[in-house]
Amino acid sequence: MMKVVVIGLGSISEMHIKSYIQNEQVELYGLCDQNESRAQEKATHYNVKHVFTDPEEVFNHPEVDGVSICTWNRTHADLAIRALRAGKHVLVEKPISMTVQEAEKVQEAVKETGKTLQVGYVRRFGTNAQVLKTFIDDGKLGDIYYAKASLLRRLGNPGGWFADKERSGGGPIIDLGVHIIDSCWYLMGRPKVKSITGHVYDQLGNRSNVKNLSFYKTADYDASLNTVEDLANALITFENGSSLMVDVSYSLHTKKDQLGMQIFGTKGGAELEPELLLVMEENDTILNVEPQIDHRSFDFDNAFQKQIDAFVEACITGGPSPAPVEDGLEIMKILEGIYQASAQKKPVEL
Ligand SMILES: NC(=O)c1ccc[n+]([C@@H]2O[C@H](COP(=O)([O-])OP(=O)(O)OC[C@H]3O[C@@H](n4cnc5c(N)ncnc54)[C@H](O)[C@@H]3O)[C@@H](O)[C@H]2O)c1
Repeated sequence: MMKVVVIGLGSISEMHIKSYIQNEQVELYGLCDQNESRAQEKATHYNVKHVFTDPEEVFNHPEVDGVSICTWNRTHADLAIRALRAGKHVLVEKPISMTVQEAEKVQEAVKETGKTLQVGYVRRFGTNAQVLKTFIDDGKLGDIYYAKASLLRRLGNPGGWFADKERSGGGPIIDLGVHIIDSCWYLMGRPKVKSITGHVYDQLGNRSNVKNLSFYKTADYDASLNTVEDLANALITFENGSSLMVDVSYSLHTKKDQLGMQIFGTKGGAELEPELLLVMEENDTILNVEPQIDHRSFDFDNAFQKQIDAFVEACITGGPSPAPVEDGLEIMKILEGIYQASAQKKPVEL
């Protein structure tokens, strides 16, 4: 049995906790949050024996084999490095860090310790992404040379730490962009980044003024605190000549929220979201093919369980993680590059 502690007991921790409980190779050994009453409450609710308020106590505990880090982005790299150095395996929520420099330090710690580190790129584990990957790996789309990813919220700045650049590192690019950029990059075959053109806008703010339309707010929502961008777009070019176009927003004057991801190859194309669809050409005829699977859109619960199971498997067998530290670093280069390109008003060459 692998003994695991979940650190940071906010909204996403629920998914980690439930998935570890479902995994027969894991004992959910403890829960940790700097907010003691939250930690006690969750431990009682899920019948977990050990409660911690300081991650250091978790890292020093000889019985703990691994941790999930579900805290604010600012703490990810530091906690991951300390956990690794204490001999623990780590599943760290996305993004791996707030900067490339921090991500490189995490990578060094992984190399030094030989422990497993997996980044929380849960969208890789969606049935739609996994089915599409089998078609791509089989060459059915040919060479992939273009992808497009868009996640636009019209009224969706959650506030709290998400809106505080000090704790989050940024707005929709670092929070939402990380997922959709990773999904496309992963399906494109993880090409090396060459250059990035990016624009970051802060035109609408958090739109806390909007009335009669509800939206998700964090527990510590503060309408007056908002230091993150509300829209970003980017064109990412890779060394193999392929490119990825992205846009993401928390606030935008758009008719409705939108999520779309498309991949284009020399033999065929695909829509990953809003629903998996393959575009083929056979007998000089274009075919739009709907795979008959349970979840053509991202199936969060199922994907989360698969993500946790894959992490546990990698820790127990010592095999490779399906979302290793290198991928955390490469995506961080893209995220940081978008902010840099926007600030310097010209493309960033990597
Ligand atoms: N994979 C996904 O789809 C997904 C979805 C939501 C959030 N996330 C990521 O999960 C992380 C947490 O997000 P959330 O929405 O659950 O946030 P949250 O604010 O709901 O919870 C964070 C918790 O971490 C605790 N915490 C912060 N720093 C700590 C520290 N140093 N030691 C102990 N506890 C600490 C806070 O007290 C809080 O309870 C973020 O990095 C976010 O990007 C991922």
